[in-house]
Amino acid sequence: MNLIFLGPPGAGKGTQAKILEERFGYRQISTGDILRANVREGTPLGVEAKGYMDRGALVPDDVIIRMIEPEVDAPGALIFDGFPRTVPQAQALDALLLGKKKSSVAILFEVDNAVLLDRLTGRWTHLPSGRTYHVRHNPPQHDLLDDVTGEPLVQRPDDKEETVRTRLAVYDEQTAPLIGYYDNPDDPRLVRVDGLAPIAAVTEQLVKLVHDGGFAEHRAPAP
Ligand code: AP5
Repeated sequence: MNLIFLGPPGAGKGTQAKILEERFGYRQISTGDILRANVREGTPLGVEAKGYMDRGALVPDDVIIRMIEPEVDAPGALIFDGFPRTVPQAQALDALLLGKKKSSVAILFEVDNAVLLDRLTGRWTHLPSGRTYHVRHNPPQHDLLDDVTGEPLVQRPDDKEETVRTRLAVYDEQTAPLIGYYDNPDDPRLVRVDGLAPIAAVTEQLVKLVHDGGFAEHRAPAP
């Protein structure tokens, strides 16, 4: 079963994707991490994407869909983290998965908007791996150093308060409609988790869903 992690910036999608990847062998496909790697390497894609990302806007659908196409071929169970973010992206993903006879379930991380600003402005990131920490909720073992590599952590440029506010508004306008797309009564494929719970408790909810068959009644059969 492939998982689509849906939820506003700071909801905990990346944190949980990394945990499921390490513990259960899922493969995380984070469009944000792929874009940031391209920005760091100065590729044409990175140069095009940077302006959108720095101001908290979405990168155009055609760029994102082209970027994701080869990723869908990866073997094993995938976690789409931060993709899709618009209805056209969701339709494109469905078409790609259908072509590969793969199915998917969307998991909505429900979080009160009030906590998101605190989570994002307190976040420190290991850019090469995408691992994230929080100054209070999930501090690294050594100040401002990644637990695995010992390399320095940085604050993402789009985690400045003003840009976070733009990203939250963009989520409400362009991504929240995906809740209805996946919660469609004719083909329900949406499961909700309480993203306000502590990190370990959110993981427990996901493990229960993945391993205790909690997805059974939501599963869209591959045709
Ligand atoms: P992207 O990198 O995808 O950012 P995002 O969706 O805004 O998500 P975040 O990474 O900010 O949040 P998260 O939910 O992963 O939270 P995290 O687990 O880190 O996208 C960045 C930009 O790229 C976009 O703005 C856009 O420009 C572009 N882009 C990317 N994909 C695109 C697409 N498909 N289409 C178009 N453009 C695209 O957690 C946040 C913090 O909270 C951390 O510090 C963490 O330690 C802490 N935390 C996590 N869980 C908990 C918890 N349960 N309790 C307490 N603290 C917690």
